[in-house]
Amino acid sequence: MTPNTAVPGLLDQEVVAQWREDFPILRQTIYGKPLAYLDNAATTQKPRSVIETVARFYTEINSNVHRGVYYLSERATELYEEARRTVQRFLNAPSAAEIVFVRGTTEAINLVAHCLGRTRLREGSEILLSQMEHHSNIVPWQLVAEQTGAHLRVIPMNEHGELDLEQYEHLLTERTAIVAVVHVSNSLGTINPVAELVRQAHARGIPVLVDGAQAVAHLRVDVQELDCDFYAFSGHKVYGPTGIGVLYAKRRWLEEFPPYQGGGDMIRQVTFERTLYNEVPYKFEAGTPNIAGAIGLKAALDYVSALGIDTIATHEHALLRYATERLQAIPGLRIIGTARQKAAIISFVLSDIHPHDIGTFLDREGIAIRVGHHCTQPVMDFFGVPATSRASFALYNTPEEVDRLAAALQKVVEFFRV
Ligand code: ALA
Repeated sequence: MTPNTAVPGLLDQEVVAQWREDFPILRQTIYGKPLAYLDNAATTQKPRSVIETVARFYTEINSNVHRGVYYLSERATELYEEARRTVQRFLNAPSAAEIVFVRGTTEAINLVAHCLGRTRLREGSEILLSQMEHHSNIVPWQLVAEQTGAHLRVIPMNEHGELDLEQYEHLLTERTAIVAVVHVSNSLGTINPVAELVRQAHARGIPVLVDGAQAVAHLRVDVQELDCDFYAFSGHKVYGPTGIGVLYAKRRWLEEFPPYQGGGDMIRQVTFERTLYNEVPYKFEAGTPNIAGAIGLKAALDYVSALGIDTIATHEHALLRYATERLQAIPGLRIIGTARQKAAIISFVLSDIHPHDIGTFLDREGIAIRVGHHCTQPVMDFFGVPATSRASFALYNTPEEVDRLAAALQKVVEFFRV
């Protein structure tokens, strides 16, 4: 592929134009302007292959898994289990038994917090989180801390939005029961040095959970290389359907943990006196799962793998550099989150204009961004702002969209006369 000459590092725009063709939603206009979708950290758009896979499932195959002896049910089971193996390969997990389908990152973290609460946490235990966690990696831990008498401890960050690794080392003690840390911050874009964090925690025998919601669509994730104990992500942030996500967990944890929810499919035998649980990972998949979602997720991961996650990452990184340069040139604009290692997410404040006004103004230009606290209120508190505006990029975004964003923000400045 020949690089775009105007923006160094960007892919040939014909290649990106072809990728865009795969996403039917991107063809529309909003208020008469072509849609520039820059809210990919909230959710990504779906390629046709995902949409068609889900539609085909309901049109031709729909039936329940692990239960039927008839053709359709066997076919649905095959596809569901193939989806699990696809996730295994995508994360380079050692075994498909270590892949648990859940609703999303939030449910994955709740599962681990709940199970760890029942097995390992006790009065005085410490749960070590970072200052840049999403609420979904804070609140589940607070819930189990309340029940068990454990305490939350926080790894601080600096003004660039980078974790303080020296403090991290001091915070790891014999009381630390788990480290739960985000791979890529949804509000700052910071890529955390997860492998290093795991290495230090493991040196003290402490398990590590990684929230990978913002990572899997944007950089190569290899759970064996990271050596983390748990890795969580959501399908909808990697071009798949909503309502499906993954918890990767090392087998020993899944064996040790009690079930998170009870119901059908997670059992071997039930009497009113006692129940024998199914083997892993089924022990953690009570009830009819999101079958279409899992199969749609497989289609999404196949799509990403066919394009190449490294190719996507290179393109997004070039977009990030270009967008950073363009946005920094806007008078009064301050980027929140300037870590050296960043994914393609730019949070910013613009003079004292309220982010909701910016978001509404941009919407009229056909540009979709997210404004608010991004479910990371401790990050907002740290930077002393109530909210930010956030543009987040995906494989289908272009330098023209960055130009439109910059031009619209310039108009915002003029409109509010700041
Ligand atoms: N966590 C998602 C975001 O950052 C919803 O927008």
